[in-house]
Amino acid sequence: MNPLLETANVFRTFQIGTGFLKPKRPLHAVNGVSLRLTKGEVLGLVGESGCGKSTLARMLLGLLPPSSGDILIGGESITALDRRATARRVQPIFQDPYSSLNPRKSIGEIIQLPLKVHRVGDPSAWPGKVREMMDMVGLPSRYVGNFPSQLSGGQRQRVAIARALIMRPEVVICDEPTSALDVSVQSQILNLLLDLQRELGLTYLLISHNLAVVEHMAHRVAVMYLGRIVEEAETDQLFRDPQHPYTRALLASVLTPEPGLGVPDAHLGATFPNPIDPPPGCTFHPRCPQAMPACRTIAPKPLATATGHVECHLYDTELRRAS
Ligand SMILES: Nc1ncnc2c1ncn2[C@@H]1O[C@H](COP(=O)(O)OP(=O)(O)OP(=O)(O)O)[C@@H](O)[C@H]1O
Ligand SMILES: [Mg+2]
Repeated sequence: MNPLLETANVFRTFQIGTGFLKPKRPLHAVNGVSLRLTKGEVLGLVGESGCGKSTLARMLLGLLPPSSGDILIGGESITALDRRATARRVQPIFQDPYSSLNPRKSIGEIIQLPLKVHRVGDPSAWPGKVREMMDMVGLPSRYVGNFPSQLSGGQRQRVAIARALIMRPEVVICDEPTSALDVSVQSQILNLLLDLQRELGLTYLLISHNLAVVEHMAHRVAVMYLGRIVEEAETDQLFRDPQHPYTRALLASVLTPEPGLGVPDAHLGATFPNPIDPPPGCTFHPRCPQAMPACRTIAPKPLATATGHVECHLYDTELRRAS
């Protein structure tokens, strides 16, 4: 099947100041990522803080140009589309519904804004569309004239979802959509997102620290480490038989009493490396319990697995034979 959204060897580098009078140095936040999302699919993207998930998300939304590589939607490069054309097709739902909603606008105005910006149809039809959308996300219509400050966190995230979906985008980028919410409302919002995805045939990229959330929602999972997708597989396969030692460590962390707290480093030994000075060879080798001599010098290439790929020398039979 043709992918709806595709990244082809995408890189994003930031020039970082490292100190007074010191030259800037490159930080490779996204370091050669190739992903494909087919229509109606939920792709989970997991990995520790700072591995490059949001940078990738911002590029998919057309908010940040890649340093190199291409992003295609329906086969068309989004660098060739203007920001508005991309926004009609790809919409975000961010973590924090407090800062993403204008506090001076009513709920109705906030949800309606994309229709206004994109001049969709007849303005007299907008209030009806807003009510329909509020109904879909479970917001009682009496809130239409209220302001964000008068709503709970969960309700605000429903407003953000309604605003993202009113243009009927094809792809929704959910970047930690529930991690700012109380645990008690997180599952309500996740189930709402799942219902809407099925009902509207949406395609999601779902970014989360929480593997339990990803297991519940995603069809496929991509595991990111220092700007690269080190393993990708169908969800069942990934959870049943993780290949990459990093994926195994992440899964072990789910079994800790409070998985909602993110990824503890207890199973990984050394902490997350400084992305300005990534380790040579396989960037995971200083933390890897199965590191071999080759891992210190040779960067692993993607190797095909049953339902995806893995970047790890453990599965490189030629390299193991040679060493
Ligand atoms: N605008 C920027 N300028 C400089 N560096 C940046 C910029 N945006 C991101 N970075 C750096 O790029 C790396 C990846 O950041 P990113 O926000 O994509 O990580 P993340 O995986 O989303 O993390 P988290 O889970 O904490 O949200 C980090 O080292 C970050 O400091
Ligand atoms: Mg992020």
